[in-house]
Amino acid sequence: MEKKLIKEAILARENAYTPYSHFKVGAALLTKSGKIYRGCNIENAGYTPSNCAERTAFFKAVSEGELEFEAIAIVAGPEGGNLMFTAPCGVCRQVMMEFCEYETFRIIIGTGEDEYQEFTLKEILPYGFGPNNLA
Ligand code: THU
Repeated sequence: MEKKLIKEAILARENAYTPYSHFKVGAALLTKSGKIYRGCNIENAGYTPSNCAERTAFFKAVSEGELEFEAIAIVAGPEGGNLMFTAPCGVCRQVMMEFCEYETFRIIIGTGEDEYQEFTLKEILPYGFGPNNLA
């Protein structure tokens, strides 16, 4: 499944809209029911409204009624260059915190179809603040 998810993230990355950073990111989000939602980063002349690939994938999925997630694959790198190891930004980690299980949701960071590192949300966001903290 990792390989399939990374392939999907590579395809998602093709649509990255990055006239400012020229840094292209693709994500593929796997739901517990087996569906995959793709996302890419989408930049803006106003800079702040830019959206990361991970959040694009989450918001597409949640807007379609999905609320249970298994894993996300992420690939990133400069336009025309090689993929490089890129971990999700803090804002995207916080979005994961809202919708994903802390100890089991997997973040797969790919640098090639067969080359990746895998982390849990807890590993990349220790001491996270989420819905359970408000209960
Ligand atoms: N970016 C992502 O899409 N995901 C990440 O995990 C890191 C950064 C985007 C935001 C912006 O469009 C570009 O990469 C450079 O920061």
